Amino acid sequence: MVAGDSAAGRVRVLVLFGGRSSEHAISCLSAAGVLRSLDRGRYDVAAVGILPDGRWMRVDADPGAIAAAAPGQLPEVADTGESAVLLPEPVGGVNAPDAIRGVDVVFPVLHGPWGEDGTVQGLLEMAGIPYVGSGVFASAAAMDKGHMKALLAAAGLPVGPSAVVTGAQWDRDAASVRARVDSLGYPVFVKPARAGSSVGITKVSDPAGLDAAIAEARSWDPRLIIEAGIPDAREIECAVIVDETGAPRATRCAEIIVSGAHEFYDFEAKYLDDAAELVVPADLPADVEEEVRRLAVAAFEALDCEGLARVDFFVRPDGVLVNEVNTMPGFTPISLFPRMCAASGIDYATVLDLLIADALRRGTGLR
Ligand SMILES: Nc1ncnc2c1ncn2[C@@H]1O[C@H](COP(=O)(O)OP(=O)(O)O)[C@@H](O)[C@H]1O
Ligand SMILES: [Mg+2]
Repeated sequence: MVAGDSAAGRVRVLVLFGGRSSEHAISCLSAAGVLRSLDRGRYDVAAVGILPDGRWMRVDADPGAIAAAAPGQLPEVADTGESAVLLPEPVGGVNAPDAIRGVDVVFPVLHGPWGEDGTVQGLLEMAGIPYVGSGVFASAAAMDKGHMKALLAAAGLPVGPSAVVTGAQWDRDAASVRARVDSLGYPVFVKPARAGSSVGITKVSDPAGLDAAIAEARSWDPRLIIEAGIPDAREIECAVIVDETGAPRATRCAEIIVSGAHEFYDFEAKYLDDAAELVVPADLPADVEEEVRRLAVAAFEALDCEGLARVDFFVRPDGVLVNEVNTMPGFTPISLFPRMCAASGIDYATVLDLLIADALRRGTGLR
C-alpha cells in the first residue's frame, strides 16, 4: 500500500498479523476473519504478516491463503521474500524502499507478547499511524496478569488472591516462595505472567507439583503469577466495544462449559477438540449479568483500554471475580468476542467499522 493508491474517501487499512508469540496461528485465523469481513466498498485493504522469527512480510490480503494450513497443522505467515518496513518516524516512511506508506489505520490483529502488549502499539505511535485497540499502557498492563490484577484491585474491582513470583526469586529463595504459595492454599494455578491461550498454565493440587509447574511456566516467561484456585466457578466472558461516540459498552455475556478430560480451559480445550461448550448469550440471572457487564466496563476503564476488550470472569454463588482482560481477543467469526457482539445486535462487519472509526477519531499521541 503506497500513498495515492486509494480512491478518494476510502480508508486505507493495513491488517497486521502473525507475530512472534505462541499465539501466531490464532492471529492468522483472526486476521483471516477480519480480512473476510472488511467492507471492500469502504476500505482499501492491505496485509503484513509477521513471521514467528519477527520479520515483517507483505502478503496478499487473501483470507483463504492466510488461514490455510497443511492437514494437522496450524496456519503460519508465509515468507514471501517481500519485506515490509515500518519506520519509527511520523513521515510516512518515504526514505526506505520497503516502507509501509499511505496507511490511514493499522489493525494489529496480534495476540500475546510482541503485539498485544504495547510493543507494536509503541511503534505505531512513533510512526504516527492510528491503530485499532488499546494504546501502549493498557496493552502492556493487560498483558501482564500480575500488573493487571494490581490495577484492577486498586480500582476496587474484585480479583482472586494471587502472588507474583519471578524465576530469580525462586532460584534465590524457593522456601519463601513456597510459603507464599502455601498461604494461598492449594490447588493453585501457576501461570506465565504474560502469555495467553492457556500456554504454560498448570493446575497444582499438591505442593509436590509446584517445582514442575514453575519450570513449565518459566519456559514461557520469567515472570509468573500463582493464583488460588477458584472453586465451583462458572467461566463467564463479556465483550466491551466502543460505540459510535467512543464510549465503551458491554455486550451480552458468554459462558464456557469445559467438559470431558479437561480439568480447566486449557490449550487443547480451546483449540484442538470439542471439549468446551460455548454458550452465547450465557444463561445468567439478570442481576448477575448486569453485575458482570458493569464490572467489564469498569475493568476496561481501570486499565485505560481503548476500542475493545474481552473481560473474563469467574462467577460463583457468592459473587463475581474478574479473571483477566484481553485487549486483542480472538477474532475469528466463531470466537467469543464477535459472537457476544452479535448477541447484542452488532454484526462482525459493524464491529470492524466501529473499531476503525474509533482508531481514526482518537489518532495517535497523548489523548
Ligand atoms: N484461579 C483460577 N481458578 C480456577 N481456574 C482457573 C484459575 N485461573 C485460570 N483458570 C483456568 O485456566 C484457564 C486459563 O487461565 P487464564 O488466566 O484465563 O489464562 P489465559 O490468558 O491463557 O487465557 C481459565 O480459563 C480457567 O479455566
Ligand atoms: Mg483466559
